[in-house]
Amino acid sequence: MRNFLLPTSLLLVLTILHCTTTTSFAQSPAQSPAPSGPTNCTKILEKAGQFTMFIRLLKSTQVADQINTQLNNSNQGLTLFAPPDNAFSSLKSGTLNSLTDQDKVELVQFHVLPTFVPLAQFQTVSNPLRTQAGNANNGRFPLNVTTAGNQVNVTTGVVDTTVANTIYTDGQLAIYQVDKVLLPLDLFGAPPPALAPKPEKGSSSSSADSPVSAKDDSDDTSGVMGLEQHVILSLGTALVSLFFL
Ligand SMILES: *[C@@H]1O[C@H](CO)[C@@H](O)[C@H](O)[C@H]1NC(C)=O
Ligand SMILES: *[C@@H]1O[C@H](CO)[C@@H](O)[C@H](O)[C@H]1NC(C)=O
Ligand SMILES: *[C@@H]1O[C@H](CO)[C@@H](O)[C@H](O)[C@H]1NC(C)=O
Ligand SMILES: *[C@@H]1O[C@H](CO)[C@@H](O)[C@H](O)[C@H]1NC(C)=O
Repeated sequence: MRNFLLPTSLLLVLTILHCTTTTSFAQSPAQSPAPSGPTNCTKILEKAGQFTMFIRLLKSTQVADQINTQLNNSNQGLTLFAPPDNAFSSLKSGTLNSLTDQDKVELVQFHVLPTFVPLAQFQTVSNPLRTQAGNANNGRFPLNVTTAGNQVNVTTGVVDTTVANTIYTDGQLAIYQVDKVLLPLDLFGAPPPALAPKPEKGSSSSSADSPVSAKDDSDDTSGVMGLEQHVILSLGTALVSLFFL
């Protein structure tokens, strides 16, 4: 038993030391004034100008944090459709005010694709595209593209618009300017959900919403938590093993 524990605990200690040193090595270059910190989507949009409203929504819904965290922690990348301020000001007045906080989260997440999509790749993607707002195939959040050469049109079933411009691309994150706010069918299709005293549609959609987004969120955090817990557990095991030697 002892013979078995000794190498095991040494291995654990070495693993932990290795992790610690790797982390500190990984962190030390960040202290030098290298321009490549973690990608910050709102910073990029601020630099581009004309995206005040979208930045405000990204921040108030905390989708900006989600995006930055995902960019930092995954290698799938992300694609962001960014409507400029004049796209927001040409919305019917009250459009945003009629939305609940959860609706606003979905609206912003509808502008985010969970992978990096270079412009040319829109020619080969299959409709409907999956957005961070949720399942496109149940008809709630469809987002379709059609292309002709470099022209990329986007339709949601509520609005048709065009990719006007590539604001940013680095192989990880692509930000495209779209001429209109992408209004999802789920929030803006057919009867406005805000008016009725939510008999069925409101309650069923909100109860369907929360698990989806809660799941998306918890997927991220549970990964992080899992890792942290794992490290703490390993540390605990190692210490206990050492103690008994
Ligand atoms: C991202 O940039 C914004 C400024 O646009 C700043 O307020 C925010 O703190 C930055 N976030 C991170 C994680 O650095
Ligand atoms: C990005 O990841 C590094 C290393 O995993 C971590 O130290 C840093 O806090 C993360 N930054 C953000 C903004 O999540
Ligand atoms: C994109 O939309 C514009 C304007 O609605 C239209 O003229 C053009 O034919 C569309 N192109 C494609 C590839 O769908
Ligand atoms: C999106 O594309 C799918 C598959 O081609 C189609 O079934 C759906 O009707 C389209 N939706 C919109 C809003 O264009």
